[in-house]
Amino acid sequence: MRELKIFSGQANRPLAKAICNFLHLPLGEVTLGKFPDGENFCKIEEDIRGRDIFLIQPTCPPVNDHIFELLIMIDSCKRASAARITTVIPYFGYARQDRKDEGRVPITAKLVANLITRAGADRVLTMDLHSPQIQGFFDVPVDNMYAAPVLNDFVAALDVAPEKRIVVSPDVGSIKRALGHAKRLGAKLAIVDKRRDNPTETRQEHLIGGPVAGMVAIMFDDMISTGGSIAGAAARLKEAGADAVYVAATHGVLCGKAIEKIGAAPISMLAVTDTIPISPDKMIPKIKVLSVAPLLAEAIKRIHHDQSISILFDKTEQ
Ligand code: R5P
Repeated sequence: MRELKIFSGQANRPLAKAICNFLHLPLGEVTLGKFPDGENFCKIEEDIRGRDIFLIQPTCPPVNDHIFELLIMIDSCKRASAARITTVIPYFGYARQDRKDEGRVPITAKLVANLITRAGADRVLTMDLHSPQIQGFFDVPVDNMYAAPVLNDFVAALDVAPEKRIVVSPDVGSIKRALGHAKRLGAKLAIVDKRRDNPTETRQEHLIGGPVAGMVAIMFDDMISTGGSIAGAAARLKEAGADAVYVAATHGVLCGKAIEKIGAAPISMLAVTDTIPISPDKMIPKIKVLSVAPLLAEAIKRIHHDQSISILFDKTEQ
């Protein structure tokens, strides 16, 4: 068996270290930095010839820097004769531009997938892609993991009687995900009819299903970006008589005024995973971070040993 080595870009070294701890492996030595003109620099500081390489880098903000750093890490590994390069991208940025919904716009999810593949990645390991069909944008195998078991464990541990839980989809596009969680948690389902006026503003037109009055609403989402969607939906749920609102999401992008919006919203607690690092200034008391490091470590081990990944999840989590 070829030796497994893990390296991290600068996007989320705490997650990379946590993954290495679970695997009882040292994090590989790499020097990353910038030239005075802003160009990225990378040097892998150990012999990787013929090794099975995993590069950990979520493409979170600053998105372009992190993508480019990943690309030059792939190039460094390829030119150093790595046997196989798996890019571990726990959060895949640019994913929301995944189709032409108006004229003269790009499909950036496809463009970034092309860049990663053409740079030399042999495989991709990722988590909760914004839309599952993005897997098809890569011409190499993609393992799309689910944070659902971690998010469901968080909800199950809340001091809320199961019959008081109602799972709420924050928009029509997330119904399938919400249904999976509702089945798993034995809860009813409601849907918020969200309309997006522009990238930062949303309106919550209707609340479908329920009733939510007297219930504890639990919203699941793939990402919290500006926080507008969940803040608006939480306000709508409280208007409809929900006793409390909890939110569980995989990727805490938390950009712009997200923290202010979440702080002011009628949300009792927001749980996000550590696919993206949350800086200390964003760690308000109602935010809780759950680790997906054990899941990703297990997936890396299984990819290295050519074992099944889908066996880690049941159908309601996919
Ligand atoms: C939408 O399709 C996504 O699943 C998220 O609901 C959305 O991207 C969150 O964005 P924001 O936090 O800016 O409302």
